[in-house]
Formats: sequence, structure tokens, C-alpha cells
Amino acid sequence: NQLDSLYRQVIMDHFKNPRNKGVLKDSSLIIDMNNPTCGDRIRLTMKEEDGIIKDVMFEGEGCSISMSSASMMTSLVKGKDVETALKLAAIFSEMIQGREYDASIDLGDIEALQGVSKFPARIKCATLAWKALEKGLQQNGNDEEN
Ligand code: FES
Ligand code: FES
Repeated sequence: NQLDSLYRQVIMDHFKNPRNKGVLKDSSLIIDMNNPTCGDRIRLTMKEEDGIIKDVMFEGEGCSISMSSASMMTSLVKGKDVETALKLAAIFSEMIQGREYDASIDLGDIEALQGVSKFPARIKCATLAWKALEKGLQQNGNDEEN
């Protein structure tokens, strides 16, 4: 249907013209994550200051789903506070598993990936970047407590 083809265009656009692709020079966090089922990997570099994600970039190798998801994720969380970014990660996780999700907050382009929930093998592809984000933000929280 029309919505599917619109979503497909959004995904392909993020894949062909990735946003925030590269490595941040002044990052405060570097997170590596791989998808064990295929070996694809992603590296996030992030600059977090006073609880705000000032900047975030990604690089890696992966399929169109994983790379477009990383592009969408970085676009969405850049400039957001950590709490909001973690909330978005939780919403994405619900969405990608085909569950009810909170659509009251602006989800940017990530809704284009909701169809992936019908393809269990690809869910890990779509979640790779978000897992890296969560790992980085949680790690960082623990560092501050120590
Ligand atoms: Fe590699 Fe899906 S995990 S093709
Ligand atoms: Fe590896 Fe999708 S096939 S992340």
C-alpha cells in the first residue's frame, strides 16, 4: 500500500544519504556493538554534556535496515536529554516487536521501520543502533555514580 511504499522510500533515503555518518572527534563515549547473527557492526561516538546528547555519529557496516535505523536514531536523539533518549529507545523496542507504543511523542522517521516487526530475522538489524545507544547511556550513568 501507499504507506508501505512511503516508508520504504524513507528507509532507502536514510540508507543512501546517511545522517550523522562518521566519527566524532571530541566524543565522550565510544560504543561498539555487533549483530551476532550476521557479524554486522556499528560504532557510535557520542558527546554527552550535562545530561544532553550534544552530538552523536555512527559508522559501521551493515544492511540497509541497520544502517538506516542508525541514521534515523542519531537524527532523533541528537540534542535530546538522556532520559528522553532512553524513553525513545524503549518506544522503539515496543514498536519493532509489533507491540503498542506511545506515539504521543515525536518519533521522527523511525516509524518508517515499523513494518520490520513482521520479519523477526530483521528485528535485530533494526535494533542494533538503539542497543548501542542504550549501552552507552547506561554505561555513562554508572561511571558517574562511581
Ligand atoms: Fe543479516 Fe538479516 S541478519 S540478513
Ligand atoms: Fe546484519 Fe542486518 S544483516 S545488521
